[in-house]
Amino acid sequence: MKGRVLVVDDDPEIREVLTMRLEALGLGVTAVGGPREALAALDAGGFDLALFDLRMEPMDGIALMKAAHERQPGLPVLVMTAHGSIEDAVAAIQRGAFDYLTKPFVPDELRARVGRALSERRWTRDRGRLKAVGETLASSGIMERILDAVAQATVEATEAERSVVFLLEHGQVVPMASAGTQPKAWEPLQAAAAAAVEKGVPTTITGVEGRVALAAPLVVKNGPVGALVVECAERFTPTPEDMELLALFSFQATVALKNAHELSQLRSGALAALGRMATQVAHELKNPLGGLKLYARHLEKRLGDASDPELAELAQKIGRAVDHLATLVTEITAYGRPPELKVEPVKVTQLLDECLSLTQDRLSGRRIQVVRQEDPDIPTAFLDPRELRKVFLNLLLNALEAMGEEGTLSVGAAYLPEEAMVQVTVEDSGCGMSEETLSRVFDLFFTTKPQGTGLGMAISRSVVDLHGGRIDIESRLGQGTRVRVLLPVRQP
Ligand SMILES: Nc1ncnc2c1ncn2[C@@H]1O[C@H](COP(=O)(O)OP(=O)(O)OP(=O)(O)O)[C@@H](O)[C@H]1O
Ligand SMILES: [Mg+2]
Repeated sequence: MKGRVLVVDDDPEIREVLTMRLEALGLGVTAVGGPREALAALDAGGFDLALFDLRMEPMDGIALMKAAHERQPGLPVLVMTAHGSIEDAVAAIQRGAFDYLTKPFVPDELRARVGRALSERRWTRDRGRLKAVGETLASSGIMERILDAVAQATVEATEAERSVVFLLEHGQVVPMASAGTQPKAWEPLQAAAAAAVEKGVPTTITGVEGRVALAAPLVVKNGPVGALVVECAERFTPTPEDMELLALFSFQATVALKNAHELSQLRSGALAALGRMATQVAHELKNPLGGLKLYARHLEKRLGDASDPELAELAQKIGRAVDHLATLVTEITAYGRPPELKVEPVKVTQLLDECLSLTQDRLSGRRIQVVRQEDPDIPTAFLDPRELRKVFLNLLLNALEAMGEEGTLSVGAAYLPEEAMVQVTVEDSGCGMSEETLSRVFDLFFTTKPQGTGLGMAISRSVVDLHGGRIDIESRLGQGTRVRVLLPVRQP
């Protein structure tokens, strides 16, 4: 048996007998003489089972159990009663004790009841963890988060020092997520992962300072795609049960990977189809819209000459609406057929100046502080200013739309010499994004705004990609968002 037991009894002889018997079963025992020491021990935590004497002063076993459950709700408690007071034992169970033991102890009974309480505890705990992992999987398709959840749950359930999820990339196992303490050395973990991937079965490797690394392969249809590795303290010998538990978690991780992969395939397929349909529809709309635009101008002119201001205004409104539609159609068509870049030497700060001045009307009447942080020595970059104007404008507008009456908009620009990239950041103190929104920002037509089209970020990403750059987002719900755009100084 494995686990830590807290024994509380005011009789030193009983404490001694129990300690001896429980230790003989392989358990770690802390035995104390009264409730005060018991509570101090419980505060330190880490017990899998507690044995409380029912009759104690000043706090009896039931009151102590209540206090213990406030500290550790799932802790199984066995109450110890004198022979013949079975009613007390029943009452204790009704109030939350797991089971009871009668004094004097019968060795077989002690072993059976302690064993049952421990395995029940382990089972409920693991079931809880697995349920939590399952829920994360169901609620999100974001790979890193899933892997984090798996690593975290594995550490908690196995009580290992750390857990790392490795994935196979270009024939190498690469750590993708980890939980627990930082490993002293990555090599043994990596070696264990590689061995598990190669053999396709759970594998154990003893590394530095006698630490043991257990690895279970993550197997999908075509074979292992990675491994789940846990590292335990020195001199720990894994039982078959431990290996089984690890295999269970690695199975969960595999399901997660499979789901995430399928979801992203489904999504990109659907998006591609949606994009094709949208560009076709936009194309069909182009000619009639051109005609409408002409008629609207004509009407505007005629009514402007006649002296009915109300009608003239109406005509202007029609004109503006048609213009808006025409811009949309152009954007959608452009998305379907990415433009050839027309690169020229661009000063990014200057481009940002222009875009910021275009957003001035969105600032009036609001208490928005605009902070600019731009390095003076950013080199001139070869970029398409027309396309990038769309990107920066959309980021600025999104930031301004995310904030209410007041907030801070920070715009930064810097040069990263190692990568030869210009970095532009747009940060707001606005509403931030939920996980769901964050995972879909770049989807075509995804919007949470009543008047939004959901084109902004999709276009931004395609423009940045076309430049050979990257765009990434950090966002926290209710706190704000930071979007970072990296653009190479020279076009490849
Ligand atoms: N800075 C931000 N803060 C909070 N949410 C944001 C931010 N930027 C983008 N979003 C979220 O991402 C969604 C998509 O943004 P995107 O720019 O693609 O479309 P949009 O702004 O809704 O419409 P438009 O096509 O007019 O730009 C937004 O509706 C919003 O929910
Ligand atoms: Mg937008």
